[in-house]
Amino acid sequence: MAEVGIQVKDLNFSWPSGEAAIKSCSLAVPKGEFWMLLGTNGSGKSTLLRLLAGLLQPQSGEVGVLPPVGFVFQNPDHQLVMPTVGADVAFGLVEEKLPPAMVRARVEEALGAVNLLQLQLRPIYALSGGQKQRVAIAGAIARHCEILLLDEPTALLDPDSQLDLVAGVQRLVKSRGITALWVTHRLDELNYCDGAFLLDKGSLVDWGEPQRLKQRLMKVNDESP
Ligand SMILES: Nc1ncnc2c1ncn2[C@@H]1O[C@H](COP(=O)(O)OP(=O)(O)O)[C@@H](O)[C@H]1O
Ligand SMILES: [Mg+2]
Repeated sequence: MAEVGIQVKDLNFSWPSGEAAIKSCSLAVPKGEFWMLLGTNGSGKSTLLRLLAGLLQPQSGEVGVLPPVGFVFQNPDHQLVMPTVGADVAFGLVEEKLPPAMVRARVEEALGAVNLLQLQLRPIYALSGGQKQRVAIAGAIARHCEILLLDEPTALLDPDSQLDLVAGVQRLVKSRGITALWVTHRLDELNYCDGAFLLDKGSLVDWGEPQRLKQRLMKVNDESP
């Protein structure tokens, strides 16, 4: 059997109110593949991603992810904390207590991987939305993340930067053997992934070939008023 990068078995999560957000979810993403997580607003996509990242604790079930795990949020302004591009990527390495030369090498390698090496000294505020998301991804690359979890990273981007970002992540996954799970509700992004999961009211209702899921969801969208 192929090696697994992300695995979830019979996962259940309820909010303190008692509202069940994730119901008996089981899924697996093969190592080195790029999968997407689809579902309408409120279906539990962000909750599932936060459970995978260990930011929330399930009531029952198992989560298995190969460490280290990188997380990219919908709004990069909630994630980027340092004044410049290079400083932000380096900040993510603080815990590893690496020698300064090693930090510099990791930052340059990661910024090169997202095509931002020439913007190392640029202030964060002077970046476009797509560039900010690439800085967040560089942070994960610098930490040598095995797993990349991205929660609607293109939600705030224009259509051109949206497709640039998804193509860039696809390239990184393939060239570095990273395993990625990308949350989206934009069906055109499905053209870039190896497979997709469909979440509905906290339950996993379908998964597999992206084009089949795309067809299924386009039909649903056509039928809705
Ligand atoms: N911090 C929270 N406290 C209580 N309920 C929440 C919280 N965050 C999300 N929810 C609820 O959990 C459900 C799933 O939300 P979410 O995972 O954000 O969905 P999605 O990302 O698919 O839009 C929704 O019903 C939402 O209202
Ligand atoms: Mg969400």
